[in-house]
Amino acid sequence: MRISVIGCGYLGAVHAACMAELGHEVVGIDVDERKVAELSAGRAPFFEPGLPEVLGRALDSGRLRFSTDLADAAGAEVHFVAVGTPQTKGSHAADLTYVNAAVEGLLPHLADGDLVVGKSTVPVGTASRLSELVRASSGADLAWNPEFLREGFAVKDTLTPDRFVYGVARGEAGERAAAQLDAVYATALAAETPRLVTDYATAELVKVSANAFLATKISFINAMAEVAEATGADVTQLADAIGYDARIGRKFLNAGIGFGGGCLPKDIRAFQARADELGLDSLAFLADVDAINLRRRDRVVALAGELVGDLAGARVAVLGLAFKPNSDDVRDSPALDVARRLRASGAIVTAFDPEANATAGRVAPELEYATDVESALRDADVVLVLTEWTEFRELDPAVVAGLVSHARVVDGRNTLDSVAWRAAGFDYRGLGRP
Ligand code: UGA
Repeated sequence: MRISVIGCGYLGAVHAACMAELGHEVVGIDVDERKVAELSAGRAPFFEPGLPEVLGRALDSGRLRFSTDLADAAGAEVHFVAVGTPQTKGSHAADLTYVNAAVEGLLPHLADGDLVVGKSTVPVGTASRLSELVRASSGADLAWNPEFLREGFAVKDTLTPDRFVYGVARGEAGERAAAQLDAVYATALAAETPRLVTDYATAELVKVSANAFLATKISFINAMAEVAEATGADVTQLADAIGYDARIGRKFLNAGIGFGGGCLPKDIRAFQARADELGLDSLAFLADVDAINLRRRDRVVALAGELVGDLAGARVAVLGLAFKPNSDDVRDSPALDVARRLRASGAIVTAFDPEANATAGRVAPELEYATDVESALRDADVVLVLTEWTEFRELDPAVVAGLVSHARVVDGRNTLDSVAWRAAGFDYRGLGRP
């Protein structure tokens, strides 16, 4: 099929490359000239395992190209809208500027029978509004097909997702849209990937409620970490024990400095803002989910202060800046936030992340960045592990003890072997564990 993908960020670039991998003919369109030039040259503009390989194969096959011109979407039958919906400045609501602009910009290039497919995460009600706009101005139709990919596993999640959700119009138009999407995703559907066809509102809500559930699960275990800290219990053992109950499950029960990234934090805020607009109190608990999450950052800063006595002038090694491992994304990253707050408290912060030094440096130029983990650790008064990269998990505490000036460590992700670090002489502090 001929496909266009509007927006080539973390979502769109992966989607465009993967659609070409599946045999479709794809044009990826983005307003950012630098990004389009990088992608056209086969370079992924961000770190995502597996993406450079898929991108290279797709470009070599001649089935994938990139452009800055929306007019190049003409001729495609299915148009994916994969632009960002960031948090609006000064409010919790989602900023729909880019989604609106993408759909409006597509209108003159749509042909009868084309399908516009929203992938961006939007407040419930958006698809219905945009479908009216598309139908009033063209012979095309609209579907909402939320994306559930995780950064770090984006290629795998796009090629072999857990499920497909198609939000479509009622009646024949909806049936036609579902058939077009079935043709796009034929490979995964042949492997019996579940597929749910819903109305627009349900599809929009599936996406935000999935992220709200995941955020709630993380904040639940972080709330248990607070209780564990007050009582001497160990939240990691608690998570293992409750996780054996299949109804609960062990995934997303890792207590630590909490969730960040370009999705969970802004999605739970936008969801609350939308509920407020609808006059509903139903999502009031998400304010607590957010508050518990942010309190964990305070806790890490306090632990570091406790260990060194006075943060002013203390040398702090921060290991990890990305919001999670296998990503260079620092959007709303708890690790970067903690590093900046320590610096603001007068600490001398030397930070290192295997992939996110450059992205962090653009937003936090006030930090010192080390080029490797050893230089970050040298002469540190306290070490903070804030993103659970394998490289940090595998550090030999005896070697680290030889580099730092004081053997103190805050394990912000409960990812280190506390027994081994203590045996090497470290004053070890985890989150919610003794
Ligand atoms: C999240 C969802 O997991 C995806 O399904 C969704 O498609 C995506 O948002 C999106 O809306 O686009 P992602 O932001 O890539 O994916 O990251 P997650 O793997 O969900 O992790 C989010 C944050 O939670 C990270 O900061 C991570 O460190 C933290 N986390 C995760 C914990 O603190 N504890 C856990 O047990 C799990």
